[in-house]
Amino acid sequence: MAIERTFSILKPDVARRNLTGAVNAKIEQAGLRIVAQKRVWMTRSQAETFYGVHKERPFFGELVETMTSGPVVVQVLEGENAIKKYRDVMGATNPEKADAGTIRKDFAISMGENSVHGSDAPETAAIEIAQWFAGNEIVG
Ligand code: RTP
Ligand code: MG
Repeated sequence: MAIERTFSILKPDVARRNLTGAVNAKIEQAGLRIVAQKRVWMTRSQAETFYGVHKERPFFGELVETMTSGPVVVQVLEGENAIKKYRDVMGATNPEKADAGTIRKDFAISMGENSVHGSDAPETAAIEIAQWFAGNEIVG
């Protein structure tokens, strides 16, 4: 299995509730390595670009509002099969449907405040990482 990188966001509900370390512990326990990390407060423009794929969806406005409501932690995670592995650790988008032990089951508040983002494919991972990190900020 190839070593992959994926892009992660600890969303405002995590940063606000001081859960950064608790979520990072689950990430590391899953065998993923945090190879880049910084705390940022996204501008509206950055959030709209980031979630541009959803711009026609009815929840887009609310999504941008939520993602700009406070600081987030953006990360690059590295490991075997990292994209799928992280999606598995995150749990389902709707936390009510998330499996036991997942980040969203244990920490998410609602569909909107669902604690984490993870890339869904290698192509999107590459684009998302490049939006937030320069190559020399990622140290594996
Ligand atoms: P993410 O992109 O944040 O990792 O989440 P995801 O892949 O599990 O879900 P996605 O379909 O990409 O949706 C992005 C975020 O939009 C919010 N959402 N709200 N009200 C709704 O029906 C709805 N659907 C999605 C969620 O916060 C989701 O994480
Ligand atoms: Mg998504």
